[in-house]
Amino acid sequence: MTGTTTGPGLPFRVSNSTMKSQTPEFKRLTPHCGAEVQGINLSQPLDERATDILTTALAEYCVLFFRDQQLTPEQHKAMGRCFGELHFHPAWPRLLEGHPEIMEIFVDKNTKRIAGEDWHSDVSCGPEPPLGTILHMLETPPSGGDTLFASMYAAFDRLSAPMQQFLEGLSAVHDGEHVYRGGYGDVQPESETYPRAEHPVVRTHPVSGRKALFVNRTFTTRIVELPRQESDAVLQLLFRQVEQPEIQCRFHWRPGSVAFWDNRCSQHHALWDYYPNRRRGLRVTIRGEAPFWRPESG
Ligand code: SIN
Repeated sequence: MTGTTTGPGLPFRVSNSTMKSQTPEFKRLTPHCGAEVQGINLSQPLDERATDILTTALAEYCVLFFRDQQLTPEQHKAMGRCFGELHFHPAWPRLLEGHPEIMEIFVDKNTKRIAGEDWHSDVSCGPEPPLGTILHMLETPPSGGDTLFASMYAAFDRLSAPMQQFLEGLSAVHDGEHVYRGGYGDVQPESETYPRAEHPVVRTHPVSGRKALFVNRTFTTRIVELPRQESDAVLQLLFRQVEQPEIQCRFHWRPGSVAFWDNRCSQHHALWDYYPNRRRGLRVTIRGEAPFWRPESG
């Protein structure tokens, strides 16, 4: 093996002339959102070529789905590091022992509240919200437990031109306190400070250059430039825009399924329709940059 770079907090990329490169193939799920990926074994290191193909595809399809993957926690983290440094959640109470970068998603009959049970982009309340998230599902309920995803490119594109112009250049407050205070059911978070940030309402995707709507029902509380009443009305309109079925796809998990979503151009909503059954998965999150808006982006 040649040219491997790895280490704590460093992107993990493999440049290897002897290793056979994996070539992903994509099958689009719906016109606006999601693709199933074949030809990739995520337990093997991704070389630069495969990583670049996946980076471009992620920005295009918003979420990529992989089936029948067996990943150790180290392999899961190594995959994440191909795309950037790993993110540490500000308030998640259930981390995998020995792996503080891995969140355990665990739901059973004692669970009071699940992660992501409304439309959101992960930790958008942070100053540099995560670029993407990789969820590896290990245990699924007998039925249900699907996750919905929606394209924020399509959410923006489907607004009228006057509304698009009105929104561009505005900024919004994303607040973590009402989400994280009180914890998740039976487990309390250790943190007592809560992230809060202002981000553009419309952001430019750094890879695709496309414009994406960047407000969500879970974290966004206020459009900064508008009085409260106008802000509430506009946000409600935008939250409904995100929820249009035409811009979504719905993923049915099996044990071994992996979803890799792009928080810069998608939102997701985990369905909790399987009580009192169990569902368990492990989640690695990749650090992002401060969202920006470029007027000329397409
Ligand atoms: C999340 O928002 O990370 C949870 C997604 C899921 O459990 O499907």
